Amino acid sequence: MNVYDSEQISKVLKPLQYNMTSSLEKADLIIANTCAIREKAEQKVFSFLGRVAHLKRKKPNLILGVGGCVAQQEGSKILERAPYLDLVFGTHAIGRLPSMIERIDAKKCRIVDVEMPEGIDESVFSAYTDYNRKVTSFVTIMQGCDNYCTYCVVPFVRGREASRSPEKIIGEIRSLVGSGIKEITLLGQNVNSFGKKEGLCSFSKLLSFINEIDGLLRIRFTTSHPKDLSDDLIYAFENPDKLCRHIHLPVQSGSDRILKRMNRKYSRDYYLAKVDKLRNICPDIAITSDFIVGFPGETEDDFNETLDLIKTVQYDDIFAFKYSDRPKVPSALFRHKISEQDKKDRLIELLKSQEYYTKKKNKVLEGSTQSILVEGLSKKKLQTDAKNKHVQWTGRTSTNKIVNFISNNDVSLHNENFLGKMINVRIEKALSHSLQGIRVK
Ligand code: 5AD
Ligand code: SF4
Repeated sequence: MNVYDSEQISKVLKPLQYNMTSSLEKADLIIANTCAIREKAEQKVFSFLGRVAHLKRKKPNLILGVGGCVAQQEGSKILERAPYLDLVFGTHAIGRLPSMIERIDAKKCRIVDVEMPEGIDESVFSAYTDYNRKVTSFVTIMQGCDNYCTYCVVPFVRGREASRSPEKIIGEIRSLVGSGIKEITLLGQNVNSFGKKEGLCSFSKLLSFINEIDGLLRIRFTTSHPKDLSDDLIYAFENPDKLCRHIHLPVQSGSDRILKRMNRKYSRDYYLAKVDKLRNICPDIAITSDFIVGFPGETEDDFNETLDLIKTVQYDDIFAFKYSDRPKVPSALFRHKISEQDKKDRLIELLKSQEYYTKKKNKVLEGSTQSILVEGLSKKKLQTDAKNKHVQWTGRTSTNKIVNFISNNDVSLHNENFLGKMINVRIEKALSHSLQGIRVK
């Protein structure tokens, strides 16, 4: 979501003649787009600001801003902590950014804008026209969240759930496809409740409309709350067509007791039944998840139930995090906090037990042929013999596994441009987090 917001920020600033640069020294405007989901992400903001403060002394006209969730949460407190900062803008202020920058430029004033009006500001969503080298893009379909999991800051910093109209979403996707985009990832905190509040079409209906867009090759989405995973959506994977065979289904914990304290509103058995149903409908669907270890009151038994869930589900991959207190969230006041050392030990154990399944899932693909959407040149060059370094391309399977491949062993053919094309690749070798292959016709 932050990557997407950063794209929107750079887009709304184009009319003011701001272009992206990879050099901090050259920049006339530096914006730290921040994440508040865990304490560690928040600490990064202040260490980054500390590192760029000297640039402001060298270049007094440089504008320094902080946007995103930490800005929303802390507001003017950030200006006090960082006296060289010009601007703090929240999650609902991107559309107002150009006028703020113009005011700072003209009046050398400092601005804080953390207003969070209800509903969606469509002005930030018009599509890019200069994508040329990009193949995949995010598309926001809804903002905010009404679920109030007890550990989560999102409802406080991103506001109430609100969905965009299907017409606007489809319009944006058509325009993206017109500028060369082949794959889109629909974004929302809980795509399964898409449109419910506003009385719009269901999420699965939206998927079927998007499926009809000519020139679009692939559709992904994230994230789906297990409590709202409908049969309709599960059946969308029966004949997926453009819908990729992957679902991210965050479980957070394998213990019913902890799930209740987290206010997740489903049980372990309910979750496992959803996984079974998905696999019955689409046997090779990839399933990934998020976990929090060391939630307040999590006992060794609770943690063992989480480890057991990992063995039962056999995920394709997971993201796991140590619990951290966030401002305003209910669990910050829960008793029986887990020590930093125990959280660390549990995280290591959890990741280690998943590693086996990630490798196993990759290994079974060795020797198979996969259809890959090529996203660009791989950063790594393949050393095929003592002298020759071969150009490698990179892309993903429908199941979201990264595949690096060479076209074939003839070096002269490596100049062929595969960007944005669907290519068949035979998987030669499974590595821990990617696959290595060779193009086949
Ligand atoms: N502490 C640790 N992890 C958290 N997440 C959300 N809030 C917290 C928190 N307070 C994790 C959840 C969520 C992912 C995006 O971040 O696993 O799914
Ligand atoms: Fe946070 Fe829960 Fe909403 Fe996800 S569903 S954003 S974890 S409150």
